[in-house]
Amino acid sequence: MDLSTDHLAPVYAQWPLDVVDAEGVHLRTRDGRRILDLYGGHAVAALGYSHPRWLAALEAQAKSLLFQSNAVPLDVRARAATRLTRFVGLGLNTVFFGNTGAEANENALKLALKITGRRKVVAIEGSFHGRTAAAGAVTWGAAQKWYGFPQAPFDVEFLPRGDLEAIARVVGTDTAAVIAEPVQGVAGAVDLGQPFLAALRARCSDTCALLILDEVQCGMGRTGFPFAANMHGIAPDMITTAKALGAGFPCAALLMADHVAAHLKTDDLGTTFGGGPMACALIETVVDILESEGLLANVRQRAAQIREQCIVGPVVAAQGAGLLTGLRTRRPAKDVQRELLERDILTGTSGDPQVVRILAPYVLDESHVAQLRDALASLPA
Ligand SMILES: Cc1ncc(COP(=O)(O)O)c(C=O)c1O
Repeated sequence: MDLSTDHLAPVYAQWPLDVVDAEGVHLRTRDGRRILDLYGGHAVAALGYSHPRWLAALEAQAKSLLFQSNAVPLDVRARAATRLTRFVGLGLNTVFFGNTGAEANENALKLALKITGRRKVVAIEGSFHGRTAAAGAVTWGAAQKWYGFPQAPFDVEFLPRGDLEAIARVVGTDTAAVIAEPVQGVAGAVDLGQPFLAALRARCSDTCALLILDEVQCGMGRTGFPFAANMHGIAPDMITTAKALGAGFPCAALLMADHVAAHLKTDDLGTTFGGGPMACALIETVVDILESEGLLANVRQRAAQIREQCIVGPVVAAQGAGLLTGLRTRRPAKDVQRELLERDILTGTSGDPQVVRILAPYVLDESHVAQLRDALASLPA
């Protein structure tokens, strides 16, 4: 493919990979290579490729009703909302469907600022929350790298990861919300840990600030639990999610506790595409597949296998949770990633130059992890 004439905005660094199609957990390239995909398109392809029930749901919904707006009540939308809120539990009984992770975060922050009447948001060092004005404002390092807006739309303060003592100093009665990825993704699969998250929960309750957990990357089964909030036993005021939510169909959700939803009235939030019938049919199907095919247990087992078997070659440790795993490398992660790709295994890198990021489909089996182990063992340490 000649990238110089593809008419696309030149904003993405691109891997040397010419993909034509995919099946299961494998990508096929134009020159006939079969690549084990342990990256899943930035954590989206949770069910791998061509899952028969996902395809059937897509086709059935497209044939029956392709689109209607949120002005038209639809069974499929109500079913998706019911299924998703039951999947998460934790008293998050109301959902607003959107299109992207950034949009879900934008709406969560807007609600928190509006409900509390305060103008400060606390975020965590290393965070990534998206590219829009509010989501970018709470993203660590965005202002220096790509933010672009002349100023943030509210006051922002960053809290050092894991610093329990700093919480009381930084989160106060002037704070509208704390936004945190319970397992940071772009930072390199960093689990903030139960004690830190529980302390954030407690401080938010004490100061009447709202706790927003951004589970755009770590949610929807990726940790081996419905959400990382379930894994850590933390009930936030809001959760945002996207990526694996549609397992390839673009969609996002903002889940809210009753006391947050109680503030909503007509016109407070809105979108054309969010909550469309195609997205909702796939959200319902994805939850159904995760529950009925035992995929959360498989995520936990494959993650444990990676930790037991893949600390070989250039890898010195594993971090993160479930299939949001970071392999800490002795050498630069981008070199290890390139060498793995030469051996037909696709992985990701991260904000940490010494972490290879695994965001594998939940349908991975034992032999795929063994293939990763063998490839890593064959690399120079
Ligand atoms: C934790 C987290 N939040 C938000 C986003 C932004 O999502 P989107 O690209 O769908 O806007 C991402 C994307 O990588 C993410 O990892």
